[in-house]
Amino acid sequence: MRNGRPIVNSILLMLLFAAISQAQSIVSPDGRFSLSFKLIENGIPTYQLSFNGAPVIRESRLAIETKEVPSFIDGFSIETIDTSSIDETWEPVLGEVKQIKNMYCELAVTLIQYQHNRKLILRFRLFNDGLGFRYEFPVQPALTYFTLLDERTEFNLTGDHTAFWIPGDYDMNEYLYRTTPLSRVDATKGMSGKEIAARTVISPIAVQSPIMLKSADGLYINIFEAALSDYPAMNLMVDFGKMGLLSHLVPNALDHSAYLQTPAKTPWRTVIVAQRAADILTSKMILNLNEPSVIRDPSWIKPMKYVGIWWEMHVGWSTWRYADTNNIKLKGLDWKHIIPNGKHGATTERTKRYIDFAAKHGFDAVLVEGWNVGWEDWFGKWKEDVFDFVTPYPDFDVAELQRYAREKGVKMIMHHETSGSVTNYERRMDSAYSFMKAYGYDAVKSGYVGKIIPRGEYHDGQWMVNHYIRAVEKAAEYKIMVDMHEPVRPTGLQRTYPNWLASEAARGMEYSAWNPGNPPEHETILPFTRLMGGPMDYTPGIFRIKLDYTEQRKKEHVPTTLARQLALYVTLYSPLQMAADLPENYEEKLDAFQFIKDVSLDWDDTRILEAEPGEYITIARKTKNKESWFLGAITDENARTASLPLSFLDPNRNYVAVVYADAPTAHYLKNPSAYTITKYLVTNNTVLRLKLAPGGGTAVSFVPATVQNEQQLKHYK
Ligand code: NOJ
Ligand code: CA
Repeated sequence: MRNGRPIVNSILLMLLFAAISQAQSIVSPDGRFSLSFKLIENGIPTYQLSFNGAPVIRESRLAIETKEVPSFIDGFSIETIDTSSIDETWEPVLGEVKQIKNMYCELAVTLIQYQHNRKLILRFRLFNDGLGFRYEFPVQPALTYFTLLDERTEFNLTGDHTAFWIPGDYDMNEYLYRTTPLSRVDATKGMSGKEIAARTVISPIAVQSPIMLKSADGLYINIFEAALSDYPAMNLMVDFGKMGLLSHLVPNALDHSAYLQTPAKTPWRTVIVAQRAADILTSKMILNLNEPSVIRDPSWIKPMKYVGIWWEMHVGWSTWRYADTNNIKLKGLDWKHIIPNGKHGATTERTKRYIDFAAKHGFDAVLVEGWNVGWEDWFGKWKEDVFDFVTPYPDFDVAELQRYAREKGVKMIMHHETSGSVTNYERRMDSAYSFMKAYGYDAVKSGYVGKIIPRGEYHDGQWMVNHYIRAVEKAAEYKIMVDMHEPVRPTGLQRTYPNWLASEAARGMEYSAWNPGNPPEHETILPFTRLMGGPMDYTPGIFRIKLDYTEQRKKEHVPTTLARQLALYVTLYSPLQMAADLPENYEEKLDAFQFIKDVSLDWDDTRILEAEPGEYITIARKTKNKESWFLGAITDENARTASLPLSFLDPNRNYVAVVYADAPTAHYLKNPSAYTITKYLVTNNTVLRLKLAPGGGTAVSFVPATVQNEQQLKHYK
């Protein structure tokens, strides 16, 4: 009998399995973590996580609320228990390390609500760096289509930990981080009325995941998710009573969370735990919990270093829009009759200037924003038909630029700002990508500024989560690489879709062109939060730090020293990196620009030499298939000295180290542009002393020394 188990049989089974409703435990391969699962009173599923014998997550409930009755909350019995383990190694297409070890012990608990014959599987994977778990809804007679109202996964903590967090929001992740004890989380504190109104979750206790925590006894805990697909993103509500966090999913236009059909699964919920902050940054658990690449031949996927017509518009030097007219309809308009504003950035001539600069300095590509019709009324109108992605402005000659770029050996990066009109983008994706291919573009920067259409959907809801994946899959059909701005924050899906080179999904450099900019601590927190899920297109490399050089005489001042801008290429991992400033500004400081030209984007190895969220990060990385290393060190608003043994270098050779440092008088506010460049011979016995200015940084390149270098250069002392 497949449907409807006889009642007597059920009772017998219930008695039988009462015996195994005791706690079920597994330990991590290295024995340091232990996970236990238990049904408590009323058949409520719970889990606990311990590290080195002490609890990290106290007894916490696992629950999914559905529209269909009953919810997956209680009334469960254990049906079966399966354990297994894995120890394997795989190679990412692009990455921070050449090989990744995937090793865990797994516990899969199949639960049943006998009265309703509903099944749920809870799958736990315990790694040497923490726990991943998810809910699975297998095919079953009593459940096919269902609607999630919310997920109520608890993460009950052991104390009032220090938390690094941004306010919960269904639509926006471009916030500055706040550092408070968990008990002091108040997301609306300090927000203006306008900001509160713009926020889509108004609860003051809602924060976004990932959240980074540090306990009073110095344990680092990161709570996040992996492999977010066909499901909304997870916000977390602080539960002051339990001193814990409770999941809260981004809703849709109808105030539901997700529509699912069996077999279905949630993303993995992740708890990464380490005694040293550096070990949080080396964790590969989120990638390990994602599916392998679906792109069989990834030979067309390449790291990209690019310049582009971008910062000049953010600093007011030029404009995206061609004319200063509003309300220009896309269709049936002869652009030749529109009077240009004279400041349009994306002209053929200006693009050639960037192509020349890219070619001269060995960059892979040039991005151009503002090339296509629609910018006259793209923002804040909630307008459906805003860009068609195939109509250039009259002063942007796509065919001529294709010819010119090819001649110079430079690739072009297309820009697709959707303006949040995603129905429009979906409709036009094929024609947009075909247009790109016809004109030689194989990478796109897309953007999702503003409120989403379909109206009522949010950036981080199930519909949009699926859209981002659809866009990346569609791009892959055309062999196009993608850089997304304003998507949901990444959860390791770049393993599955390696053409998804990078995303923004956090507060990037652009904010430093406005007011207030990103304070130095921001870049020391990003790797512990936003970057846990994947590479960020942060767009570093600002050399002209005071922004008063444009017509607008902007008062902004990027909160950084110049040397720090170089270090960011190493501390903020991405296989796609922009040199964001204007060619004119680089040409004034070509000696420092050399580091950006030299730095690699794809790595065999990564060493986190020192790290503390909110304070400092020092990372060294070895170039993929080469003997060169690059080091980046940054600090917060405080000066910092450090002694770094270069023991990661190959012991059998001398290296030339070029040290790009803050000058002794440098200061991110008072004297940002003072830097020094010094060359030395070093070995793996050298201990390098760094002096970082307040808001400063140091960048170092290491290349094997030639005989000539050995004769000419002095050893570092
Ligand atoms: C926001 C993006 O982050 C930025 O890079 C882009 O220039 C603007 N939107 C315009 O699309
Ligand atoms: Ca943005």
